[in-house]
Amino acid sequence: VHTSPTRSSADGAVPDPPARLVGDGLLVPCIDGSERAYVNLDFAASTSALTTVADAVNAFLPSYASVHRGAGFKSRSATSAYESARASALAFCGDRPETDIAILCRNTTEAINQLAYRLRLDSDDVVLTTVVEHHANLLPWGRVARRRYIECSPRGTFTVEDVVAGLESKPVPRLLALTGASNVTGWLPSLPEIIDAAHARGVPVFLDAAQLAPHRPLPGGADYLAFSGHKMYAPYGTGVLVGPRATFMDGDPFLAGGGAVDLVDLDEVVWTEPPEREEAGSPNVVGAVALEAALLTLQDIGWPAIAEHEAVLATRLRRGLEAIDGVRLLGPALDTETLAIGTFTVEGLPHALVAARLSAEWGIGVRHGCFCAHPYLIRLLGLSATEIAAYRDQVLQGDHTAVPGAVRASCGLSSAAADVDALLDAVAQVANDASTGRAPPVPYEQDPRTGDFWPVTDRPGWAAHERDSSLSCARG
Ligand SMILES: Cc1ncc(COP(=O)(O)O)c(C=O)c1O
Repeated sequence: VHTSPTRSSADGAVPDPPARLVGDGLLVPCIDGSERAYVNLDFAASTSALTTVADAVNAFLPSYASVHRGAGFKSRSATSAYESARASALAFCGDRPETDIAILCRNTTEAINQLAYRLRLDSDDVVLTTVVEHHANLLPWGRVARRRYIECSPRGTFTVEDVVAGLESKPVPRLLALTGASNVTGWLPSLPEIIDAAHARGVPVFLDAAQLAPHRPLPGGADYLAFSGHKMYAPYGTGVLVGPRATFMDGDPFLAGGGAVDLVDLDEVVWTEPPEREEAGSPNVVGAVALEAALLTLQDIGWPAIAEHEAVLATRLRRGLEAIDGVRLLGPALDTETLAIGTFTVEGLPHALVAARLSAEWGIGVRHGCFCAHPYLIRLLGLSATEIAAYRDQVLQGDHTAVPGAVRASCGLSSAAADVDALLDAVAQVANDASTGRAPPVPYEQDPRTGDFWPVTDRPGWAAHERDSSLSCARG
């Protein structure tokens, strides 16, 4: 077995995890018949609730009632809890103009679709975006405008000069839409410089902060921001869109319905003021309470402690992966600061098989596939046009066996050095098996419809009848 020589010496002691999450230490079944404490390395996908969040939700539930829709005492309390969460969401974004509002929605995807609808772009307008983006920050813009892309290097990064070139191409973009941190490599673009460069050329900026917001303070200056509660320890279905009130003043909202209006006749509607105009339907007050508790807990722990904890984990994870024979770490060079994310491939093994083995044999939870960022993965993997055409044809025929991709391990507030070390040992074993031709302890079968692998065993938790064949671990 190959182990990482750099693991404990050069990487520094990992500070104790700064917070506990509901479900930490949960026992999960493995195919050797044991139950092991789940090693959660999938924070970039979604996060369990902070214990403070679960406590806040439980404390609120007796007061639960409709928001902005009742005269009873409980409705008044619920409304004030909801509005307090809105104020905290805005405050979390740092110093903002007084004219800004926070709209509470479901998640980042909904926020971006809402903004794309609201900006009233013309189909000839250009939105400048990047090939690094999550699909959520690509597809909504393609529906309402033309997209111009900032390319990335084979390491998955771009420079401020690359952004400037995109900003200065004609026609002048109506918006720069970019991510605050990559969900694939954890790379952090130089946001203050980029935001300044855009503003110097009269281009407003939308920042997709889904990955940034749980890990770093949000930069000042972005005109619009969006983030998701479920990625920041508040998995109760609330997300946030922040921007100038003026954007939401004219015309109809993204969703039409109750709560968004001042007056309705059978052929007339008078929309109410934003932000309520943008929040048709009964608001998710439990999600809002959870989100506020998470934001306040992050602020209590403090960004320096969060960044220090995650920086040490990032180094340990990325250096450790890079040191394993047969493993290729994707993304920026090791001396570049990233979030604590390590995305990698193992020579000779499908990403789906690596992820399945980590789960079934070691109880380690990671994500695999293209992480809702197909254009970025294609570039990081360096796929040729012929390779892309081949897998595209297969996918169009319903066969997902050869979809390219990678495995992603990602850390968060409750991650410990032991979690990273468990992953590194397991990956070293898997890579060693691949290079020596040693078979896994049980055969694994691939489902062509999803591309996922499943161990062939009768062990509890993994028997054939416990497999839900409609599940896919790698939806894009
Ligand atoms: C960078 C980035 N943007 C947007 C999204 C979409 O977030 P959500 O699924 O919460 O809408 C994600 C989710 O993975 C993401 O990582």
